[in-house]
Amino acid sequence: MSPIGVFDSGVGGLSVLRHLWAQLPAEQFVYLADQGHVPYGSRSAAEIIQFSQGITQFFQQLNAKAIVIACNTASAAALSLLREQFDVPFVGMEPAVKPAAQQTQSGKVGILATGGTFASDRYARLTARYAQGVTVWEDPCVGLVPEIEAGRLDSPAVHHILQQALAPMLAAGVDTVVLGCTHYPFVLPVVKGIVGTAVSIIDPAPAVARQTSVVLQKNSLLADASQPGNVRFITTGPAEPFARQIEQLLGLADVAVETAVWHSNR
Ligand code: DGL
Repeated sequence: MSPIGVFDSGVGGLSVLRHLWAQLPAEQFVYLADQGHVPYGSRSAAEIIQFSQGITQFFQQLNAKAIVIACNTASAAALSLLREQFDVPFVGMEPAVKPAAQQTQSGKVGILATGGTFASDRYARLTARYAQGVTVWEDPCVGLVPEIEAGRLDSPAVHHILQQALAPMLAAGVDTVVLGCTHYPFVLPVVKGIVGTAVSIIDPAPAVARQTSVVLQKNSLLADASQPGNVRFITTGPAEPFARQIEQLLGLADVAVETAVWHSNR
């Protein structure tokens, strides 16, 4: 039985993994956190492409049958190239501009994503195509990913960063906010506390899990539903802190965490 590779710069993709696991409980997942290089958001596209190629090769060595890029920044930089270079089905992510533009009543939407995602051609094409007639407010939430990686989900810094990002959007009449970085669902309570109940918040993770299921079905790759699935956790950073993060963010205690073998070469 071949696994599904899932990767992110760090813990963000765990917000996608929990939906993948719920929707596809018979699958074997290998979650790779590239914590040796987190955050991706402030890195060049060339660097992110290089990391994503290395991770894809690593997953191929594990005989992965499909790869989910549980990271908007890596999808923006590398997804098209990876699809050209590797013969394995990929599921990528992008900020949910299209559903936000479809559902807004005020014609104003707010997107929270990383600087790398906003700077990408892929994002420019996405907004040009789907956000016509809609005003899009963007904020890169500088410093938020490191806070979440450090396990500080409710710190004064998190409140400050999100307040600074969301206050101008709210003042402008935004009624829909997109979580365009997979780390951000872990600070959803703070986002909700700031925007209140009149603003809807979109986390694309459930849609990504559904899309993964469709891709597996199309390629006849679904696991035998009579067998229970599992998850293997791997990091390019230190293993022990990652195990604590998994416990904090997914509620899984005493998980075995491995360190990726190729980390020492880089
Ligand atoms: N979680 C990632 C994303 O969805 C990137 C975070 C980062 O490393 O900057 O964009």
